[in-house]
Amino acid sequence: MTEKREQAERESVFILEAARLKFGCGAVEELGWDLERLGLARIFVVADHGLRTFGILNRIGDILSSAGIVATFFEDIGIEPTLASFGRAAEATKGLDIDGFVAVGGGSTIDTAKVANLIHCHGGAIMDYVNPPIGAGRKPPSPLKPLVAVPTTSGSGSEATTVAVLDLPALGVKTGISHRYLRPSLAVVDPELTRTTPAGVTASTGLDVVCHAVESYIAKPFHARPRPANPDDRPPYQGSNPVADIWSAKAIEFGGQYLVRAVRDSDDIEARGAMMLGATMAGIGFGTAGVHIPHACAYPVAGLRHEYRAAGYGGDHPFVPHGFSVVVTAPAAFRYTYDAARERHAQAAKWISGSPIDRPGPDSLPRALIDLMRQVGAPSGIAELGYREADIPALVEGALKQQRLLALSPKPVDSGRLEQIFLESMRNW
Ligand SMILES: [Fe+2]
Repeated sequence: MTEKREQAERESVFILEAARLKFGCGAVEELGWDLERLGLARIFVVADHGLRTFGILNRIGDILSSAGIVATFFEDIGIEPTLASFGRAAEATKGLDIDGFVAVGGGSTIDTAKVANLIHCHGGAIMDYVNPPIGAGRKPPSPLKPLVAVPTTSGSGSEATTVAVLDLPALGVKTGISHRYLRPSLAVVDPELTRTTPAGVTASTGLDVVCHAVESYIAKPFHARPRPANPDDRPPYQGSNPVADIWSAKAIEFGGQYLVRAVRDSDDIEARGAMMLGATMAGIGFGTAGVHIPHACAYPVAGLRHEYRAAGYGGDHPFVPHGFSVVVTAPAAFRYTYDAARERHAQAAKWISGSPIDRPGPDSLPRALIDLMRQVGAPSGIAELGYREADIPALVEGALKQQRLLALSPKPVDSGRLEQIFLESMRNW
């Protein structure tokens, strides 16, 4: 193949579609005004029931009613959404005369609203839209109704992304639905809403933010992908590109600078606000560029064993919070990817640790990350989450199912490499 033809078959285009963002203490007080501006008079509110305890949902109810907005609340959200919990939300919208959706809660809540909106607008079964090969990968034929996302945790970045993550316990995998029509029309990010978030939740979600940002910053560049046959086939996760880099870089810096403070003191609104903004910024970065090895490994890590009890998550069922399931394999993954993008790894290490790195090498970024994990009380590795070496083949098999993500790794990853990464991740310290 000639060099010219080879170049012609590489991607040469990237696209940035970011959610509109309103940020700051008190931003939620303007929710009525924002909904009116979007023409939403009758809305379906998907909300985390736990927020009732803190008076947040009553406050939002008051804000909506004083703006004359008619709201139907739905609060039956799964911590890790399943087909059944998405289905219940979609079912609850049936026959309702609504103009749009509002989601109030963490990533699971926002994802539930995205899927309820999709099925409400276009019908069909949820699996029709789930990413292939697990689902049929059907694309929504036209835009959905407006969705306004009000995140109350600073992690998933779901308020800025095109993705809804779905747990399929029967298959032992997590997958999702991704399409640009799923992206919220507006993210209203109010740091005051995280004041009640427990330290353990802030730690896990904050480490998720750092991983989103680092993974997208070091992802395979967009121009290394094959050119799609038509624009509709261009994946939402396009690979790193100069615009996503800006968002990802800033989010890494915020994680290094503010996460420890945000975990240690729930009244440190400056730090909690920075982590919320960081989560949304990382959401814009990875929502465009994509995540890879740690997130691919996180699916089986969260899915296969349910023994870990995380502080701060309440409830009595053991599970691995998403951020912890991601970060445990990140040091080993970044050690492996180092030589594909040395400067970027060194830069990320510098932002996380907040100081220049002397003689950067494969261990610089893993060391900076491990230091942060220890300071915020993260589990030390997959052993602490209940895994033994005998579980590694099953973990590898689960991670290999996430080819959509693994394709964005800056270095090729096969089963032997994943085995090595899981082995190194048994204990990070
Ligand atoms: Fe994540």
